[in-house]
Amino acid sequence: MSAAQGPVVAVDGPSGSGKSTLSRAVARSRGWRYLDTGAMYRAVALAVLERGADPSDTGAVVATARSLRLEPGTDPDDPRVVLDGQDVSTAVRSPEVTAAVSVVAAVPEVRQLLVELQREIAAAGGIVVEGRDIGSVVLPEASLKVWLTADPVERARRRSAEYEAAGVATTAAAEAGALARRDALDAGRTASPAVPAPDAVEVDSTSCSVPELVSLVLAELDRRSGP
Ligand code: DC
Repeated sequence: MSAAQGPVVAVDGPSGSGKSTLSRAVARSRGWRYLDTGAMYRAVALAVLERGADPSDTGAVVATARSLRLEPGTDPDDPRVVLDGQDVSTAVRSPEVTAAVSVVAAVPEVRQLLVELQREIAAAGGIVVEGRDIGSVVLPEASLKVWLTADPVERARRRSAEYEAAGVATTAAAEAGALARRDALDAGRTASPAVPAPDAVEVDSTSCSVPELVSLVLAELDRRSGP
């Protein structure tokens, strides 16, 4: 990795822990870029489904991933992901993609391709990158690594509220089950499992407001880059 010209903040943690909200707010407050690596895995899963391939057919998944042109946006005010020239920012959030993405993200060749792109985008620094393995694998030299957690009941409540706002019928109980299955797949896979980096700062967002979380992260960052 080339020397970064600005700080790099890695924000990892399970679904519904509040990574996107926190990462975007931190990026915005410092005038930095923001990269949602989950959206990149989601875009590959979307392409697999659109081609009618089986997400558990590793050969088809790898062939699909290799043939794609993926352009992740980095504007914290307008995060977009463009796939083969099409804006798929909304499509990658569908329940079908959400159900398929953990299997696709467990394929080592897919991870290798996406990690390369993530490192290229982050190389200039001045960026907050969110995902599951950013601090542990993708950017181990990040200026600050945050592992964000939240109580599973609260995470399921947040996820079902997001779906309801998007017009998708669900319940907190159904989301709790789905989150537990995805967490187990993400944390239990062989390739870059979703685990905190040894030097990550663990933050529990269950009962913290967004401004409190942002202040905590900025204070930690300033402490590290202090005189
Ligand atoms: O954060 P999210 O729900 O959009 O992530 C979608 C999926 O991608 C989820 O199964 C975890 C996986 N993922 C990953 O394996 N590595 C990353 N850096 C980011 C997401």
